[in-house]
Amino acid sequence: METTKGLKRSHMCTQIGKQTIGQQVTVMGWVNKRRNLGQLIFIALRDRTGILQIVINGEKTPDLAAKAKDVKSEYVIAVVGDVIARDEKNVNPDAQTGYIEVEAKELRILSVAQLPPFSVLDTGVKEDQRLKYRYIDLRREEMQQNIITRHNITKSVRDFLNKEGFVDIETPMLTKSTPEGARDYLVPSRVHGGSFFALPQSPQIFKQLLMLSGFDRYYQIVKCFRDEDLRSDRQPEFTQLDIELSFVEMEDILSINEQLIAHVYREVKGIDIATPFPRLPYSEAMERYGNDKPDTRFEMELVNISQFVADMDFEPYKNALATGGSVRGINAVGCGTYPRKKIDSLVELAKYHKAKGLSYIIVQSDGYKTSLSKFLTKEQLDVIVNAFNGKTGDIILICADKNSVVFEALSNLRLHIGKEEKLADTNALNFLWVVDFPLLEWDEEANRYFAAHHPFTKPTEEDMALMETDPSKLRSQTYDMILNGVEIGGGSIRINDTALQDRMFKLLGFTQDEIEEKFGFLTNAFKYGAPPHGGIAFGLDRLAMLMVGATSIRDVIAFPKVKDTSCPLTDAPTKVEKEQLNELKINVSE
Ligand code: AMO
Repeated sequence: METTKGLKRSHMCTQIGKQTIGQQVTVMGWVNKRRNLGQLIFIALRDRTGILQIVINGEKTPDLAAKAKDVKSEYVIAVVGDVIARDEKNVNPDAQTGYIEVEAKELRILSVAQLPPFSVLDTGVKEDQRLKYRYIDLRREEMQQNIITRHNITKSVRDFLNKEGFVDIETPMLTKSTPEGARDYLVPSRVHGGSFFALPQSPQIFKQLLMLSGFDRYYQIVKCFRDEDLRSDRQPEFTQLDIELSFVEMEDILSINEQLIAHVYREVKGIDIATPFPRLPYSEAMERYGNDKPDTRFEMELVNISQFVADMDFEPYKNALATGGSVRGINAVGCGTYPRKKIDSLVELAKYHKAKGLSYIIVQSDGYKTSLSKFLTKEQLDVIVNAFNGKTGDIILICADKNSVVFEALSNLRLHIGKEEKLADTNALNFLWVVDFPLLEWDEEANRYFAAHHPFTKPTEEDMALMETDPSKLRSQTYDMILNGVEIGGGSIRINDTALQDRMFKLLGFTQDEIEEKFGFLTNAFKYGAPPHGGIAFGLDRLAMLMVGATSIRDVIAFPKVKDTSCPLTDAPTKVEKEQLNELKINVSE
């Protein structure tokens, strides 16, 4: 094997073009492909910028040609040569370097490569293989672009925030449980046998402490850890762009974050985004879309028909209304031709989301085809169809249940049909803020309230008085940024007054001792001068996923975990030696 001794790379592959014709260049990279055409050998050389064609002329340089014949895909080589224009017939106007090639004068083989488990050129490799050999998968052009775009995003984020006077501050990874609602990843302490650090679910508590310390504008691009079920937009370790500001109100935070996102899109994608983003109260988002992160790229909004069906004699509707639920539906415009099988699958989808059933009415030119024909009269069906503005060719889908089930079933049906019918404009960027979330969530199993965001979130000023009288109605000063139906960030204005924080902890059912034990260091800190403050955290992986047009955050993370939270590349997590466990004073039960 040869070395680079005496050679210095002069260009990355795609820095070479018409403007470099006549120059001698030195390039290094991987062999993407080699082709022999009689006396001419062509090597497509790849580096992270793209592909460059090397040509070795057997007549002029027979020794080089003999050497080049040994070169195989994924060999790492260095080439010194002259940039020449390609023959007209060989020009490839689609490639960045398609007008030129480098005629080699020297070729060094820096590393040989075995046949890789899959070709870097193959776009159809299964994900488990890709992740097991991630270092090869990352050589593929798509992945190189994704990872580099991610870098461009973080760079433009830093540029914007640095210019706006934000200070980048690191917070601990070995810390105490942070209340974001997921399970913690724990790290045993050797020194304090039997005690554990928690990896941060977010830097929430520390960023608030930094506001108390006077840092005023903080940001951090930071790993967070949450032991929760994985989905295509969730990872056990993921990256937040975490931000906190003092002396601000909610509107200030929304505004600067819109500017931030607009800056990132302009810098990274060259796209201008209109600001301010629409603001949708949580209650309206639920009423219209059944969902607190609505995809507003298409309509098919929910319609509440409770008042129209209240006196109709149909048990499921009557039961739902009698128990405080509702009867709502959607009109899938023009989908009245769905065959029976497809309608059955929609019913199954609703049931999967815990609905007891799903009624349908197909509007036809000569009447209705409906699962309600045995129960409702033509006149009653007319009333329902009118409420949905149903026209010939439409199918109306109706769900009656408690509100949470109705919303979940219908919002999922809406998204499912929207996807099947390709209703969303794939080029659209529908940003919006969902605001005024409920402060608390009632957990039936635990028979207590939980903080819907986290316990440091401030109630809306108007609702403050409800804390002791009707907590279920409390709204909070929270906001989520939504892009095309994905929650890309969320935050709140925080409580900066110890008395109010105490009232909040009491509402959540914490005893004084528990408050002291869990949050004592924070509540104490608030006694020594706490400015009004608030912040937000973006899911950087999710933002990057949407910006590169990927469907999974795994495609913008260099080394992601898979569904069972393991790492296919390293096989982590793994068992550890008995001695190590002994040192940590840990006994593992079989
Ligand atoms: P929240 O819990 O909403 O807020 O998280 C902020 C954003 O982080 C992203 N996110 C995730 N991304 C990938 N995998 C996960 N498992 C995951 N969990 C969350 C989402 C989400 O919007 N401390 C608060 C923020 C604040 O109040 O300032 C917090 O962590 O895009």
